[in-house]
Amino acid sequence: MSEKTNSEILKPIKTRSGGTWPPASPIDRGVFISTYGCQMNVADSERMYAVLEMQNYTQVPSADLAEVIIINSCSVREKPVHKVYSEVGSYRVLKGRNPKLKIGVGGCVGSQEKGNLTKKQPLIDFVFGTDNIDELPEILAKLDDKYKKVIQSQFHHRTPYHIQTMVTQPGVAQFVNITKGCDNFCTFCVVPFTRGREKSRPLQHVLKDFQDFSLKGTKEITLLGQNVNSYKSECGADFADLLEILSRETDLLRIRFTTSHPKDFDQKLVDVMARYQSKLCEYIHLPFQSGNSRVLEMMNRGYTREEYLQKVAMIRAAIPGVVLSTDIIVGFPSETEAEFQDTMSLVEEGGFETIFAFMYSPRPMTKAASFESQLPEDVKSERLQRLFAHHEALADGWVKKYEGQTLQVLVEKFDQNRSNWVGRSTQNKLVYFAGDQFTENLIGQVCPILISKARPSVFRGDLVKL
Ligand code: SAH
Ligand code: SF4
Ligand code: F3S
Repeated sequence: MSEKTNSEILKPIKTRSGGTWPPASPIDRGVFISTYGCQMNVADSERMYAVLEMQNYTQVPSADLAEVIIINSCSVREKPVHKVYSEVGSYRVLKGRNPKLKIGVGGCVGSQEKGNLTKKQPLIDFVFGTDNIDELPEILAKLDDKYKKVIQSQFHHRTPYHIQTMVTQPGVAQFVNITKGCDNFCTFCVVPFTRGREKSRPLQHVLKDFQDFSLKGTKEITLLGQNVNSYKSECGADFADLLEILSRETDLLRIRFTTSHPKDFDQKLVDVMARYQSKLCEYIHLPFQSGNSRVLEMMNRGYTREEYLQKVAMIRAAIPGVVLSTDIIVGFPSETEAEFQDTMSLVEEGGFETIFAFMYSPRPMTKAASFESQLPEDVKSERLQRLFAHHEALADGWVKKYEGQTLQVLVEKFDQNRSNWVGRSTQNKLVYFAGDQFTENLIGQVCPILISKARPSVFRGDLVKL
């Protein structure tokens, strides 16, 4: 078999991690993290950088500058282990050049695969799980101390979830975890196995994070959890209580949360959202997964189509102008064409301006992976295409109503490529507008933007001069 050329080997590094050829020299204690998956993983990568900075490591912008490369992986869908191996393989040339380079795999694949990873891919030096981020300095010290491989991916089931949120450079918009893990065991989902049992942070700790971020200039915080609305503080406060206290007692401009589970979305929560609308953004991500009650039962979701629609009606009645988005799985085992049509119609009835839709993919350890009547790939793929086309046609029309409206946009950054400011409206719309970064710095400001062009995923507009 012929050897790969350097340019072939380097290609993935260039695209994944922005390296150059020939590779730049590594920076002493430089660390580069490649992040996949959900916002939870994005927040975890921030924590990894922060934990390592305290040990004098420095964040670097590309893998070729690093002495430690971490792949923070996701295993929720298709061939995650494959993706990890292929990325690690792309670093072979860097490893050959610098024997001190350490390559690690963290995140959900780390929790799931543990020592299998180092056995199958010897370039991997260490593996850690979603509960072991704070152990990273210890893991790296062990490798310096001549351990050949380190695997630290056990869950800390008994330890309470008492942490402080850590980031290296707080931005205008930040994530704050309030729960971790999940106890719902939807039959398709690997997360309960990769993130462990559900735990909530004490309310006082979350409040302290808010106060700290606010002092550092953060304007918007998104509360994170696999199921934020099953939050339960040690003092007995539930998610609605938490939102109320955060809205009342902190001076953040905006609060968001994701993901909420339909079965736990109740009137008390809706009432708090309505009461504190000035702070609690009128945007809710409420995954329905399937529009058919038989499929929902097989998924173990804990609600029927009718119950889901009742929750939507309750939310819309209390919060005028609320924007809903959702997650959908097509081609769940045994899903018929008629049942898929129920999903198509729920997209319309629910009025979701944004959808995140996926083909069902069997995951290890999950119940649905062993269900009979797994559907062929071409059926799943064809349903997904139809769903996207159906939604796009609907959403294109729905978002037209924003054209001519003025939305309040919290500016997050200046996009150099488009020479535009970019930020989000309270409805979570990504909005671009023209401006000059040299005459005025708008980052962190809320600007009134008159929307001229609205597409389902991105809006354009102009700053309204007051
Ligand atoms: N906790 C969230 C979901 C987290 S996973 C919730 O309950 O809503 C994010 C999304 O990935 C899920 O909502 C689901 O739509 C999708 N997903 C999870 N497992 C999947 C699988 N096995 N195949 C395809 N999509 C999946
Ligand atoms: Fe997965 Fe269901 Fe938990 Fe969401 S609620 S993380 S879909 S098991
Ligand atoms: Fe992926 Fe783990 Fe998030 S499987 S979606 S990174 S919880």
